[in-house]
This record gives sequence, structure tokens and C-alpha cells, in this order.
Amino acid sequence: MRVAMIGAGYVGLVSGACFADFGHVVTCIDKDPGKIARLEQGEIPIFEPGLEQLVASNVREGRLSFATDANEAVRTADAVFIAVGTPSRRGDGYADLSYVYAAAEEVAGLVDGFTVVVTKSTVPVGTGDEIEAIFQRVRPGADVAVVSNPEFLREGAAIEDFKRPDRVVVGTLDERAQGLMRELYRPLFLNETPILFTARRTSELIKYAANAFLALKITFINEMADLCEALGADVQQVSRGIGLDKRIGGKFLHAGPGYGGSCFPKDTLALVRTAADAGSPARLVEATVEVNDARKLKMAGKIIAALGGEAAGKTVALLGLTFKPNTDDMRDAASLAIVPALQAGGAKVRAFDPEGMHEAGRLLSDVAFAANAYEAAEGADAVVIVTEWDQFRALDLDRLKTVLRRPVMVDLRNVYQPADLRAKGFDYSSIGRS
Ligand code: UDX
Ligand code: UDX
Repeated sequence: MRVAMIGAGYVGLVSGACFADFGHVVTCIDKDPGKIARLEQGEIPIFEPGLEQLVASNVREGRLSFATDANEAVRTADAVFIAVGTPSRRGDGYADLSYVYAAAEEVAGLVDGFTVVVTKSTVPVGTGDEIEAIFQRVRPGADVAVVSNPEFLREGAAIEDFKRPDRVVVGTLDERAQGLMRELYRPLFLNETPILFTARRTSELIKYAANAFLALKITFINEMADLCEALGADVQQVSRGIGLDKRIGGKFLHAGPGYGGSCFPKDTLALVRTAADAGSPARLVEATVEVNDARKLKMAGKIIAALGGEAAGKTVALLGLTFKPNTDDMRDAASLAIVPALQAGGAKVRAFDPEGMHEAGRLLSDVAFAANAYEAAEGADAVVIVTEWDQFRALDLDRLKTVLRRPVMVDLRNVYQPADLRAKGFDYSSIGRS
């Protein structure tokens, strides 16, 4: 089948390359000419393991191409996917749908023959109805079906998540559209991946409900971590102890500095707004947002406590800046709250991140970026693990101790065991473990 993918960002590029790898012919369209030019040179603008090779092989086989102009691709497409950004609107937390509507408007003028128009971006419940209204206004009588097909991709594991999903959710009751979507996902269908067909609004809500629940689950274990510190219990054991209950499951029960990324913060806020507007407030999700936002600042307090209660004149070395490992994405990373809070307390901040320093340099000021963990720790009064990159899991602790001014480590991801660090003479603090 022929697919037009509008938006060659994180979601659009991964989805487009994977659809091409299924054997479909895909054109990724983006309004950013620089991005398209780099993609045509084989340069991938985002850090996603395996994506460069996947794009290159499908371009080589002639199944994947790039364009800034949507005309040709949309006219000949069986399915047009809208995968443009749906960022949180500054200030009020509503999803900014201007890019989605702009893309819908453009596509409406170009479709030819029966076409399925699919929202892959995370869009508030009812957006599909709005897009349908745009088509009726711009192109009355166009033979289209507007479908919701949310993505459940984790950054750093996006290709795996696309090709081996727990499920595919398709929101449409239109028979022809269901048939076309089945055809599109046939390779998954063949290996028994459940494809769930629902009404469009239900599909749109499934995406928000999934992300909000995952965010709530993380926030729950983070609260239990604080309780463990107060009670002298071990949150990693609590997490294992409850996670062995199949109804709870062990995933997403790692206590940390609070969740970040381009999805959880944005989608929880959008769901809170949708629920409030619908007169059915999502109080648990509201609390999740509040607790998570406060937690990141609380982490700065934990670090200052480890410095002896005073940040002024101290140097702190952060290991990891991105919102999680295996990505360069800094969106809502815990470091974006921690660094300014430490600097406000008078501390100097040094940092190392394997992939995120370029992006972090645009978002943080007065941070001394280092070439590696040991250089970051040079002369520091404390070293803090903020993001659990694999290369921080087996640091040479003796070497670290010699470069640090004081052997203090704050481990916000529980990478190390307290006994091991104390045996090495470190003043070690972590999350939810006495
Ligand atoms: C975003 C959200 O983060 C995600 O939760 C949602 O599911 C999909 O939208 P992402 O791919 O990360 O996913 O968005 P972003 O990285 O901002 O990329 C959007 C791309 O679309 C950008 O490359 C932008 O240039 C392009 N775009 C945006 C268009 O081509 N046309 C537009 O009108 C607007
Ligand atoms: C998430 C969802 O997992 C994915 O299904 C959805 O499509 C997009 O949003 P992503 O944001 O890429 O994916 O990363 P994820 O691995 O879910 O981590 C999100 C945040 O939660 C990160 O800041 C991570 O550090 C944090 N997290 C995750 C925890 O603190 N503890 C955990 O146990 C898991």
C-alpha cells in the first residue's frame, strides 16, 4: 500500500520507516526543509537506536522517501498519517492542535479516491470529529474515513515497540477503513498481535488513559519511596514485592526523580483538561501531575542535604541530563528542574551526558559540560546520578573518589547498592533506601 506520513519527527519518522519495512511504500513529509534535506542525506535528526539503519535500508529499496511538498504523496496515498507534534500549549496545558489541523486542512485539499486519514499523534478525545468537520468544510464529498491509531512508542525502544507491540488500537467503525488498516498492519496481524477496533473517541481516550496510568504508577512508587525513607524500608523490595502480583506487574515501578519526556507530562495535563471540561475531573491524574512536579524540586533538596545543607560555593557534578537513557531528548527532564534549583542555592554545576549535552546546552545556562563522568566529577563536592545510562552502572569508584573533592554520591536512580558504596568510603544517598 501507499502511505503518506505527515510529520517526520520522532513518531512520524519511526512509524514511516517501520511501515516501509513492512513492505509498504511510504513518503515522509515535513514542513521543515532542513530536516528533509538532512534525511535525504541519510542523516537522522533524532537519536533512536537502529533508526539510521532502518531508514537507510528502506530508502535503498525504494520504499521510503522524503518530501516537503505533500501533493504527490497524498494524492496517490491509500492512507495519510498525521504525526505532527501535539505539544502542550504554553501555560494552560491544553494540547496545541494547530499543527494537526493545519496538516488536516492541507491533506483535505489533496486527497484523491478513497483515503483513510489517520491520527498517529496523541490527540485529545474528539479531535477526529474536528478533522472530519475540516474535511467536510474544505472538501465536501471527499471519500475519506478519519481514523485514530495512537502510538505506544517508548523513546529508545521505539522500533521494537512498533514492530512487536502489545496491541494495535484502531479507532474507526467504517468497514472499508478497518479492512485497509488490517492490510496496513498485516505483518503484525499474521503473528497474532491483537488489533483492537473501537469507536474513534474510545481509541483517542485509550492513549491518554494508558499514559496517565503509567505516569500514576511511577508516581505511586515514588511516593512509596519517600515513605520507605521515613520508615526505614527498602523501596526496591517493596516494588518487587508488589510487582510479583500479576495484577500489578513489575514494570514501571522503578522509583526515581520523577517522570519526564515528551509524553507523560503533556498527556497527563491534556487528560486533566479534557476531564475537567467534560465535567468529570480526573482527580487521581491531577494529583499525579502535582506530585511529580513537586518531586523534581524535592530532588534538589536531597542533593543540598547531601552537601551538608548548604549549596553556596559548592560544586555539583550531574551524571545524565536526558529524561531517560538511550535518547537525546531533554523534554521535561528532571535535570531541567534540578540544575536551576541548585544554581539558585549558589552551587556551580558540572555535567556529563552521553547524548543530551547539545540539547541541554540550549536549555540550561552556566553548566560546565564535561567529556566524561570522571571529568565532570573533578573537584566536585558531590556526584549525582540523574539518568541511568548504562555507562554509569560500573563506574570506577576508586577513580571517582580521587577526582571528587568529597566522596559524596546521590543516586537518584538506585543504580548502586548502599553497602557497596559505603564499603568504598562514600557518603551515599539514594531513593527509598535508608
Ligand atoms: C509528538 C508528541 O511528542 C507525541 O506525544 C505525539 O504522539 C506525536 O507528536 P513527535 O514526533 O515527538 O511526537 O513530535 P515532534 O518531534 O515535535 O515532530 C513533529 C514533526 O512534525 C516535526 O518534524 C515538525 O517539523 C513536523 N511538522 C509539524 C510538520 O511537518 N507540519 C506541521 O504542520 C507541524
Ligand atoms: C512513554 C510510554 O512508555 C509510551 O508507551 C508512550 O507512547 C510515550 O510515553 P517515553 O516517554 O518514551 O514513553 O519513556 P518511558 O520509558 O515511558 O519513561 C517515561 C519517564 O518515566 C522517564 O522519565 C523515565 O525515567 C520515567 N520512569 C519510567 C520512571 O521513573 N520509572 C519507571 O519505572 C519507568
